[in-house]
Amino acid sequence: MCGIVGYVGPRAALDVVVEGLRRLEYRGYDSAGVAVVSQGRQFLTKKAGKIANLDKALAESSLPRTGLGLGHTRWATHGAPNDVNAHPHLSANGRVALVHNGIVENYARLREELAREGITCVSETDTEVVAQLLGLQVEAGVPLDQAMRAVCVRLQGAFTLVATDSENPDVVVAARRNSPLVVGVGDGENFVASDVAAFIEYTREAIELGQDQVVQITRDGVEVTTFDGLPADVRGYHVDWDLSAAEKGGYDWFMRKEIFEQPKAVADTLLGRHDADGKLTLDELRISDAELRTIDKIVIIACGTACYAGLVAKYAIEHWTRIPCEVELASEFRYRDPIVGPTTLVVAISQSGETADTLMALRHAREQRARVLAICNTNGSTIPRESDAVIYTHAGPEVGVASTKGFLTQLVACYLLGLYLAQVRGTKFDDEIRATMRELESMPAAISDVLSDIDTVMQLAADFVDAPSVLFLGRHVGYPVALEGALKLKELAYIHAEGFAAGELKHGPIALIEDQLPVFVVIPPQGRDMLHDKVVSNLQEVRARGARTIVLAEVDDDEVTPYADVMIRLPKVSTLLQPLVAIIPLQIFACELASRKGHDVDQPRNLAKSVTVE
Ligand code: M6R
Repeated sequence: MCGIVGYVGPRAALDVVVEGLRRLEYRGYDSAGVAVVSQGRQFLTKKAGKIANLDKALAESSLPRTGLGLGHTRWATHGAPNDVNAHPHLSANGRVALVHNGIVENYARLREELAREGITCVSETDTEVVAQLLGLQVEAGVPLDQAMRAVCVRLQGAFTLVATDSENPDVVVAARRNSPLVVGVGDGENFVASDVAAFIEYTREAIELGQDQVVQITRDGVEVTTFDGLPADVRGYHVDWDLSAAEKGGYDWFMRKEIFEQPKAVADTLLGRHDADGKLTLDELRISDAELRTIDKIVIIACGTACYAGLVAKYAIEHWTRIPCEVELASEFRYRDPIVGPTTLVVAISQSGETADTLMALRHAREQRARVLAICNTNGSTIPRESDAVIYTHAGPEVGVASTKGFLTQLVACYLLGLYLAQVRGTKFDDEIRATMRELESMPAAISDVLSDIDTVMQLAADFVDAPSVLFLGRHVGYPVALEGALKLKELAYIHAEGFAAGELKHGPIALIEDQLPVFVVIPPQGRDMLHDKVVSNLQEVRARGARTIVLAEVDDDEVTPYADVMIRLPKVSTLLQPLVAIIPLQIFACELASRKGHDVDQPRNLAKSVTVE
């Protein structure tokens, strides 16, 4: 939530910051603003709405070309998304400009304290108090980095802060607690941002900031300290993707581009996972085999799409390892006093690695002494940093708010984890593991097949553009696919959509079926006859009640044809891996239907890509 950028160097800060914000707009798009320092003054422009509105305001305001600036794109928490509440916020003396991602929980008390000193905040935000506190400090002669440390220790909650002082035009200072911040290390220039995408055009060298650290960047230096002012240990890394990955590359939407990147994303996530003999080797798994043998329960915690990946994982992991596996919404986990301990493996799945609900659940699990493994797509993010082990997905940057390649690569990472556990614990023979790996390695081609034949689903999106409601049914691993198909449609097309376990329909939801209601049904592969037949019966039940059935089934599954109004053919794959191909038409359907409705597919209303508040 919220994207922030700071820059110091020889380029025009305004251009660097605005371009950076454009690449971070997926994090929030309620308002945007920038501030640059020139001739001992802060020059600031901010506007409610998307960056396009800021562009217009900037065209009219001619801000000076200077080498120091910061900017923000907002997902509102405290205060309506209007011009006044937009960031940056200025201190009353006009010296400090500040942008913030997160929530300052004790802002009301700080605001009262400021009022007693005669400082009235002009916005309704929690952020402005921090700008005012910094303003008082620098006014008293305290350098900005020291001021930042002094203020940070007084704040409660989650924050990334970036500030500049008009009387110190060579320095940007930033701080973080529980919200993301990376430093981009350039040649004679440096950057701070919520995400490397903001500066990838200029440098691929980054430094991840730890919890409770302050960084001061100048043109030639990066200095990181703890909130206590002590030098901090930092880890630099090279970003393994470039600017082209962060741009649309000729597609109308990032989401569409990301859907078509899935064969590569899956292939990249599978790369280098076994040795020449076919033995799985998961390098980033920093939990010993001996420890993994003691695990007697797995709990998967995640949110949204990542949670649906976890639901698929449960079927595979339990089947391959015989270890009981629970899946829980991260936002619910710590509030129910979950039973976890040293022999529990908690798996936190998160594309962004910054989702606050998942992070808090993970911390709770660690307090209970559980071992925590992260499945994550974002190098250097908080969730893998705070986990005992990590399996990185290699999807490249996912910019569209709706997760697509993130989901597929999470599935792959879950399969790898399940197979690795089966290898370590001996619950599968080596040749069985090799066979499943071979099948996984054939999935990029199977996904490409689905992507090469999308005319039917594109036409469906046109046909159903005015549908008020759409249902999705599945059973076994098809059930999470149904949930994910419905989530995609809800978040992009803003129409009522629900996913049901096909067998549960008769216990209530079947009452929703009415004439011409579109119902997608995911049919399992024919190999699992009982499962297949049961879903075919459910398909007949809804069709008999007037539903318009859109059936996703294997290429040669002729048994379902009589009950399908529309057939979408899927390649033949084994049951557990079917989600990797079955979800593709549902992603395309949602993307295309939302597009036809004239919605912003990449930035759906009310949402943000990275949800860093609970
Ligand atoms: O970054 P994460 O994987 O932790 O994000 C979790 C959810 O917020 C995310 O999957 C969300 O549900 C997507 N917008 C769904 O498309």
